Amino acid sequence: MKILVTGAAGFIGRAVCEALLRRSGVTVFGIDNLNDYYAVELKNARLATLQGVPGFHFHKLDVADWVGMETLFAQERFDYVIHLAAQAGVRYSLQNPHAYAESNLMGFTNVLEACRRYPVKHLVFAGSSSIYGSRTEVPFSEDQRVDLPVSFYAATKRANELMAASYSHLYGLPTTSLRFFTVYGPWGRPDMAPWLFADAILNGRPIKVFNHGKMQRDFTYIDDIVEGVVRVMEHVPSGELPHAIFNIGNHQPVALMRFIEITERACGREAVKEYLPMQDGDVPITYADTARLRAAVGFTPSTPLELGMQRFVDWFRAFYQQ
Ligand SMILES: NC(=O)c1ccc[n+]([C@@H]2O[C@H](COP(=O)([O-])OP(=O)(O)OC[C@H]3O[C@@H](n4cnc5c(N)ncnc54)[C@H](O)[C@@H]3O)[C@@H](O)[C@H]2O)c1
Repeated sequence: MKILVTGAAGFIGRAVCEALLRRSGVTVFGIDNLNDYYAVELKNARLATLQGVPGFHFHKLDVADWVGMETLFAQERFDYVIHLAAQAGVRYSLQNPHAYAESNLMGFTNVLEACRRYPVKHLVFAGSSSIYGSRTEVPFSEDQRVDLPVSFYAATKRANELMAASYSHLYGLPTTSLRFFTVYGPWGRPDMAPWLFADAILNGRPIKVFNHGKMQRDFTYIDDIVEGVVRVMEHVPSGELPHAIFNIGNHQPVALMRFIEITERACGREAVKEYLPMQDGDVPITYADTARLRAAVGFTPSTPLELGMQRFVDWFRAFYQQ
């Protein structure tokens, strides 16, 4: 079975590739453009954990490069595509919207078109909890209307779902969006709170506490995300419109101040806190309703934040020898 994972040098992509490669009879093709949105050394270090594993192949490729994408799809004829490459990050989308248009809109168009021309059994791609905007009716369920994004990043992620639905409708291409809720864990992302806080606390720098701490996040451990992605890949939507959307979150929002306490405990040190107002593009709460995912694949994330953050901080200290 041949599986393409885009964004393979990324946080979630690396972990998904690793899990797929543990299965017998699976060949994983990873692609990534290795852009410098954050440290390329970290992306290369993630890739180094996969290179040499039997069945893994890596190509440096931009999903926005149509010729490169078409050539790869024509040569390899993938069974499944797990599309995780994207310009991620909410706040950077306010500074550099073109990077989001290029990777998330043009790149996604290329992925869809390649999957249509060289048919695959299922295209699974990364949506985002940010699609829900700043709504306060919780938990967030997939049936809610989502037409008020509060960042351009969120708008591109919702656009991807609509673009995928059109390909499912027009060409019968099975597509599924997975709306990830704040993913954290070993090999995580340096632009996200778990990393920023652990790094600052361990190095004696102040942490920035936005909206004066009045925020809640549904933090989801990386292993749970991977389990969900792999199960969903095998759950191919069918019928007149073979298109599905699932939340994948811990179904347990945690207050920011509680999250800071958990991080302090995992680091064994207290944080110096700098209280600041809410940032543009940010939302006060995320909280996933995961009933639909459970009904479909018999699984929902459940790793406690205390356990996941301890694993993350242990990894961080070992990686940076701190
Ligand atoms: N981590 C989270 O909490 C979270 C939450 C919601 C959604 N997501 C989505 O999940 C996916 C994976 O996120 P992540 O946290 O692993 O982010 P990440 O930035 O670590 O991984 C994305 C990878 O894609 C690559 N990439 C970006 N643009 C590309 C392009 N045009 N062509 C080829 N490669 C490209 C990057 O180099 C990076 O290695 C993204 O689509 C992201 O938007 C993540």
